[in-house]
Amino acid sequence: MGNYILEELSAKTIVAANSLTLKPGQEQFVAPTSYALAESYFNPSTEWPRVVLENDTVVGFIRGHFDPESDQPEFKSCIWRIVVAADAQGKGVGRFAVEALAGEAKSRGFATLTVLWESGSKGPGDFFHKLGFVDIGTSRFGEIIGELKL
Ligand SMILES: CC(C)(COP(=O)(O)OP(=O)(O)OC[C@H]1O[C@@H](n2cnc3c(N)ncnc32)[C@H](O)[C@@H]1OP(=O)(O)O)[C@@H](O)C(=O)NCCC(=O)NCCS
Repeated sequence: MGNYILEELSAKTIVAANSLTLKPGQEQFVAPTSYALAESYFNPSTEWPRVVLENDTVVGFIRGHFDPESDQPEFKSCIWRIVVAADAQGKGVGRFAVEALAGEAKSRGFATLTVLWESGSKGPGDFFHKLGFVDIGTSRFGEIIGELKL
């Protein structure tokens, strides 16, 4: 695993975070429908956006979402988005980012961290399972709901 640093998303890193290049076929998994639809209702105070830096280069982005009042349990403490640059994948960046978010969720008093993903051979399902997420159901759009106990 490399030497990774987590930093709050800022004016300095936002362009790099938004233009991380993925591997062919991965783009379709980045924003499952449930997230895309819910997005516009958010209050910025519920968001926890962070970049992962390696030698001052943005190699990953994770956005946590914390809304204890949400009427959708899978949106109370969840990973809203996670992207790792194609050439940095498979080196522990994703694990580093998820573990940092899990720590943040725990410190806010949540007992679980959830994530939704679309199934598919190039999708992130095996990654989340490797990190300990367990399938607990499906969303109304058929996405898998994974839960990690903290
Ligand atoms: C999913 C994603 C974030 C994983 O990031 P990553 O930095 O490559 O993952 P890591 O290197 O930290 O992998 C952690 C573990 O998961 C495993 N893993 C990662 N991707 C995997 C895959 N597709 N299949 C099987 N195992 C996988 C790794 O082998 C590693 O196991 P280890 O700790 O035993 O060595 C990255 O592939 C990505 O950005 N995908 C496109 C965007 C996406 O699908 N986001 C999710 C939206 S819900």
